[in-house]
Amino acid sequence: MELIIAGSPRKGMYSDRLAEAYAGITGGEIVYARSVSVGPCHGCGWCKGKGNGVCVQKDDMPRILEKARKADRIALFSPIYWWQMTAQEKLIVDRLYPLSEADWNGKVLTVVMNGAAEDDDREFSLLHDQFREMADYIKAELRFLGVGTSDDEAFGNALAKVRDLAASK
Ligand SMILES: Cc1cc2nc3c(=O)[nH]c(=O)nc-3n(C[C@H](O)[C@H](O)[C@H](O)COP(=O)(O)O)c2cc1C
Repeated sequence: MELIIAGSPRKGMYSDRLAEAYAGITGGEIVYARSVSVGPCHGCGWCKGKGNGVCVQKDDMPRILEKARKADRIALFSPIYWWQMTAQEKLIVDRLYPLSEADWNGKVLTVVMNGAAEDDDREFSLLHDQFREMADYIKAELRFLGVGTSDDEAFGNALAKVRDLAASK
């Protein structure tokens, strides 16, 4: 099973459309970050100690976490906001903290970031390197794609790349 976390606040826009095209090929389940109630990680450490993998916060995250635990593949789709993922996406990523090394081990982490920049912009290599660190830390296989979606033409190119990525699994 693949869990896809879609981080755009804009329903039906570029990032959503990329995530939906990807899910149409991989069969993954999309969770729209803008549509769930997930608070920021408190950093209390409960999940890593007495909580034994369970978060103290009783919002929508426990059910997302269960999907993440069962998934063998996790995909993050987000527009780029200030050289990073959106705040909505980050709330969920931070709250994946209760996943143990065993939970993560062997998962494939796919990351698709779209922005207004051109495809060859340095921001995509910066983002790639950042997710490379994250994937190495959780011992996941990383598949990263950074694409420009400044207009409909750029979006068409981005869509083709995302379809190729989805089909290449
Ligand atoms: C607050 C904000 C910050 C942004 N920062 C960046 C950025 O750092 N790099 C970039 O390429 N695009 C940036 N953009 C543009 C969006 O990433 C771009 O318009 C993207 O296609 C939006 O995706 P969406 O259609 O799914 O909302 C930013 C947009 C907003 C609203």
